[in-house]
This record gives sequence, C-alpha cells and structure tokens, in this order.
Amino acid sequence: MFPTRFVWGAATSAYQIEGAITADGRGRSIWDTFCSQDGRIVGGDTAETAIDHYNRYREDVKLMADLGLTAYRFSVSWPRIQPDGSGAYNAKGLDFYKRLVDELLSYGIDPWLTLYHWDLPQALEDAGGWPARDTSKRFADFAAAVHAELGDRVRNWSTVNEPWCSAFLGYASGEHAPGRREPAAALRAAHHLNLAHGLAVQAMRAQNADSQIGGCVNLYPVTPATGSEADQDAARRIDGLQNRFFLDALLKGSYPEDVLADLSHLSDMEFIQDGDLATIAAPLDMLLINYYSRFTVSGAPGGAASAAAAPTDSGSPWIGSEHVGFVNGGRPVTSMGWEIDDSGLQEMLRRIAEEYPRIPLYISENGAAYDDAIGEDGAVHDPDRVAYIDAHLRTCHTAIESGIPLQGYFAWSLMDNFEWAWGYGKRFGLVYVDYETQARTMKSSALWYADTIRHGGLLGRAQ
Ligand code: FCB
Repeated sequence: MFPTRFVWGAATSAYQIEGAITADGRGRSIWDTFCSQDGRIVGGDTAETAIDHYNRYREDVKLMADLGLTAYRFSVSWPRIQPDGSGAYNAKGLDFYKRLVDELLSYGIDPWLTLYHWDLPQALEDAGGWPARDTSKRFADFAAAVHAELGDRVRNWSTVNEPWCSAFLGYASGEHAPGRREPAAALRAAHHLNLAHGLAVQAMRAQNADSQIGGCVNLYPVTPATGSEADQDAARRIDGLQNRFFLDALLKGSYPEDVLADLSHLSDMEFIQDGDLATIAAPLDMLLINYYSRFTVSGAPGGAASAAAAPTDSGSPWIGSEHVGFVNGGRPVTSMGWEIDDSGLQEMLRRIAEEYPRIPLYISENGAAYDDAIGEDGAVHDPDRVAYIDAHLRTCHTAIESGIPLQGYFAWSLMDNFEWAWGYGKRFGLVYVDYETQARTMKSSALWYADTIRHGGLLGRAQ
C-alpha cells in the first residue's frame, strides 16, 4: 500500500497530443518546421493533427476520471499562448488551458502544469534559439504571464521538461528540433535552459508564494561496461553530462568541475555570467524525475545501443565525449530498444536522496513503448507494459519505505501519441489511439492502473 496522499498521475505534452497547429491564432513552433523537413521524422509523420486533443480534451479528461487519476501532468504550448515568443499574448490560446484546467478540477483531478516541453516559438529560434541568452528572459516573461493567468487554479508547476534533451538532441545531435549540430551552441543552450528555469522560478514566486514549483530532469544511472579505467572514465563523463550538469546546477548552484573540464575545448564558458548559478539554484519545492532506463558505457566506441540510438540521421549528443560507446547491458528491452531496469530507478532515487537531501521527489514520467494492437476481442492486451509499470511502482514503494521522500508517480503516457522523431510508430499510452478514427480504447494496462489506484497500492505481482 502506498501512503494515502500519494499522487497517482499520468503525463502528456502539448505538442505530442494537441494537433490543431494553426487553430485560434497559434504561432509556429520549431517542431512544425522540423516536421516539414525531409528525413527528420520516421515515415514523414507530422503532429498537425496528433491525437486531436485540442478538440477532444473533454473526452480525454473523462478518461482520466474513469482511470481514477488524482493528478494529470500536461504542458502548455508556448506558441499557442504567445505566438512569436515575445510581445502579444493570444487570449484564445490561454483560454484553451483555462478550459482544460477547469474540466480537470471539475472531476477533482489536480492539474500539474509544465511550462516548456520542447515547442519553442519559431520566431525565437530565428533570433538564435536557446544558444541565445535572451531566450531565457523571454521564457521567464512567458512563465510569469501563464502563472498570472492560471496560478489561481493550478498549484503544481514545473519549468523546463528534460533540459538535456532540448539542449543536446536539439542543438548537438540534431535528432530533435531545431535539428542543429553545433556542440558549442548546445552547451550554451544547456546553460540558458537552466537559466530560463531559474528566472521563471523567481518570476512565479514573486507572484504567488503558494505555488509548488519544481524542475524536471531525465536521469539515467550509468554503469561502466568493465572495471577498466577507460570504461570508468566514460561512465563519469556520461553521468556528468546527463545527470550532474543539471542536478548540481539546480540543487547546488554549481556546475561539476570535471564536466566543465571535459568541455573546455568547446568554450571559455564566458556565457556563464556572475550570479547565473545563484539564479538557477533558486529554492524548489520539488524535483520531478523522468526515468526510463540505464546506460552501460565503454571508453571505446561501440554500437550505438539501446537508449542512445536515434531513429534518423543524427550526430552525437554527447559533446566532448563522442568517443564513448553505448553497449548492450543484456537486459530485456522495450520496443524503443530501451533496457528495462527498475533497479536503476532505485539507485537513482537513493542517490538523489543522499546527495541532494530533503527535496520532495516525484516520478514525473515512467513507462514503456510496445507494439500494441487491437485484438479480435476489441481489447488491447499489453501485459509487458503492466509488468514494466508494476516493477517500477514496486521500486517506488521500496524507496518510500526506506525513507526517501517520493510523493507521486506519473505514467508516461496517458495516451498513445506523437513520439518526436519516431513519429507515431512508438506507442507509450495506457490508452490506445486509433490514428485514423481518433478512437480511444483503454489498454489492459489502463484497467490495471485504475485498479491499482482504487486499491491505493499493488495487488498481486503482475504476470
Ligand atoms: C521523454 C519525453 C516525453 C516522451 C518520453 C518517451 O524523454 O519527455 O515527451 O517522449 O520520453
């Protein structure tokens, strides 16, 4: 059994579900541009319609209520609310999120709002994107505007979803929008995403002291393939860039010296200005952790295995450590090729609780893609997803029992959706979506999750 106040949630993001990319005055985002370019998205998929959540949000909130969710994590689309990323706000865009939030509240579902889940207004990319310092300031203004409008009915706020992805997939490997392959620019982007987080926290705090505000990072434990010095150095490097660069900045107000040294050939770091790190480390009410898998690495280049593999022609996101090889750790994988390792979640939670003590923790994303299909009985049977979530929830439970301040769990994702460069080929949902008809069908994992929530804990071990 989980604590009575444990938050049982599911998560989505605006770009992956909303569609309606030209409706009601929405501006253009970097992902619209990216999807229109050849070779960027598997199968040439776009998010023009996505799963039409913009028009179907009432039906979707009803699904959440049927599941018994106590919380729903979603993101707002910056170009829908502020089409050019600066200047005028679009009342119709804001109204959509007010309606969504009111609908959630009418069912007693707590809205958890993420301000940035990767859909930067194209106008800001044209002005330099995240490598430009000004984008951080634009984001703080946007955060303040959204918070001023929705702060009365949304209590839980997070700033930037997974800054690692925005910086290094967006500007180093080019797997994500805007598709640039510029390592030095990616480093600046990483710092400016952190700065954007800190400035937004300050701006929201100044408005309303009651809001619960967090940062959101994607963390991977990193294991060296062998005990060799080269493999251990590879693990230090990847852990540094993936985990410590963001955790230390947000929670300690410093960048790890070894990571800065690994990157010193790229920049003199002049873009890290006096006072930035104090801003970035503005006190937080919670840390949101997205957890999917573990990395096993070697000091010699190897096959780009598992979680490190990109679906399209891309460079390396591991700036300064491009030589590191990602090797198969020998665990079963999901249809993303990501190794399943709930012990990695345990390891991460313990580490955070020890190294960055006392901050309340939430698992803000966790889940798995499988090749789901509607069966002849009209149902979608996804026992592998049930087993995945069951195992990770058991780990969460063990963590809580051992005193780690973990307070909630959000499954990724509520519904199948547009999985970035992978397009619609990868299904992460608890709810199956027929992309032709937009019909929603609860998978067996959704029914299982609803039972779990109703019971307040795990029943028998999943098969
Ligand atoms: C995370 C993203 C989310 C989704 C999952 C599978 O990195 O935050 O949008 O793509 O991975």
